[in-house]
Amino acid sequence: MANELHDFDKAYASGRTPWDSGVPSLELRRVLDAGLLPGRRVLELGCGTGTNAVELARRGYEVTAVDFVAQAVEAARAKAGAAGVKVAFHVGDALNADVGGSFDLLFDRGVYHHCRRVDLPGFMKMVERVTRPASRWLSLAGSAKETHEYGPPTVSEAEFRAELGGLFEFLEIREFRFGTDSEAFRPLAWSILMKRK
Ligand SMILES: C[S@@+](CC[C@H](N)C(=O)[O-])C[C@H]1O[C@@H](n2cnc3c(N)ncnc32)[C@H](O)[C@@H]1O
Repeated sequence: MANELHDFDKAYASGRTPWDSGVPSLELRRVLDAGLLPGRRVLELGCGTGTNAVELARRGYEVTAVDFVAQAVEAARAKAGAAGVKVAFHVGDALNADVGGSFDLLFDRGVYHHCRRVDLPGFMKMVERVTRPASRWLSLAGSAKETHEYGPPTVSEAEFRAELGGLFEFLEIREFRFGTDSEAFRPLAWSILMKRK
């Protein structure tokens, strides 16, 4: 993960973080409002500056969140402090960080779509370790139906069905558009809600 950490470190240091819209994901909020994420303990993989971890904590979840960029987690800690909520933040590689487990819920926005390209077996081993049968996972991932020169990594429906379907049942698959730090750029994405078999 050394190269990837370096790239994300540089992105946060330079402020080139288009995914960091500063507002909670509308798609996450829709799924929460629909009552599709039952449980208490949630793990957010690759939490960035913590906007969604804070939203989850505000809604009463016991939130653990991990990211390997120290600067991002520092900002996330400050955001949680300002919001008056408690989140257990960890700096480390999500694939082998000691975050406790297993969790009722797993959430990632833009992390599966990245990690699958680096070490899919390692990523899936971690997902198996931090979940148990009936745990749910909401993954928000770039869609391969649209290509961009500078957009997020993408995955096709056939790919995610093949990669995730062994361990998870698909409860809901929807298309939506990622919010970014620019109104003009809203890349097509998958909202993949799963339940561990
Ligand atoms: C596209 S950004 C999304 C950040 C955040 N989820 C959001 O929606 O704002 C991907 C995030 O995952 C983190 N990340 C990527 N691979 C990781 C890994 N193996 N372990 C921990 N964090 C990772 C990056 O540092 C970055 O913050």
